[in-house]
Amino acid sequence: MQSTDSPLVMIVHGGAGNVWPQYHTAAVDGCENAVSAGWQILQRGGTALDAVEAAVRVLEDDEAFNAGIGSVLNAQGEVEMDAGIMDGATLHIGAVAAIRGVAHPISLARRVMEASVHHILAAEGAERFAAAQGFTIIPNRQLITDRRRRQYEKRVAGQEGDTVGALALDIAGNVAAANSTGGVFYKLAGRVGDSPLAGAGFYADNRWGAVATTGQGEHIMRVGLAWRAMQALEEGATAQEAADRALAVLQERVPDARAGLIVLDRAGGIGIAHCTRDLPTAYWLSGAGRPVSALRA
Ligand code: GLY
Repeated sequence: MQSTDSPLVMIVHGGAGNVWPQYHTAAVDGCENAVSAGWQILQRGGTALDAVEAAVRVLEDDEAFNAGIGSVLNAQGEVEMDAGIMDGATLHIGAVAAIRGVAHPISLARRVMEASVHHILAAEGAERFAAAQGFTIIPNRQLITDRRRRQYEKRVAGQEGDTVGALALDIAGNVAAANSTGGVFYKLAGRVGDSPLAGAGFYADNRWGAVATTGQGEHIMRVGLAWRAMQALEEGATAQEAADRALAVLQERVPDARAGLIVLDRAGGIGIAHCTRDLPTAYWLSGAGRPVSALRA
């Protein structure tokens, strides 16, 4: 059941970085699982917003990724997570920063968007909001996996995938973007990255398309990476051109940058660019019988 009004598009990524060889298959398979979850919603006539939330929840549940369970640990050996979501139809935003004890930060971000008058809630305030909204608060240790504990004990940084993200275009022509992350390994407690920041970590506007970025948040924020790609779309670039142009600005202005992004234009085109070795992705486009996935573009 597909209208010809708008092509359907679902695209996800599993984080820019150097994915350890033993996780290559898990990263690609995990992206396929996530894109399939979102795609099923789009195919049933569901919204882009529901699709990106569903896809990111799958990635948050998957220990292969640095989001939700399996998030990297901060300098105190704890998980603190950021997430953001944006509705391209209304430009409404919901985000959470430096939160603990929530299995699906993306759903809490969406709740901030839909049940509060604010756009970003952080730390204890966000956790109190979560509890008041009926979210189950779990002991933070349940989010810590053996792999991340070993990484912390050995202080092995710089080999990890980063933020996960998803973009969708639904049958009504609405776009949405979503991001979720454990941030960077061994960060200071309270550090917030780009992922909950519209214009840096994500953006969505039905007039042009949607963007989700990934990588070192301190690099991404400096150039407003998501917004750079949106600007290129506004100027008439295709999704791939927009991704390439935004990344080129980042590399010019922040030469040691470590980042990537996915882009969706409102005609249904997609773009993928990264300056890390890997960026696992999967996408599913109208007319295709199955998703396309890869470890790197
Ligand atoms: N892009 C994720 C972070 O820097 O927190």
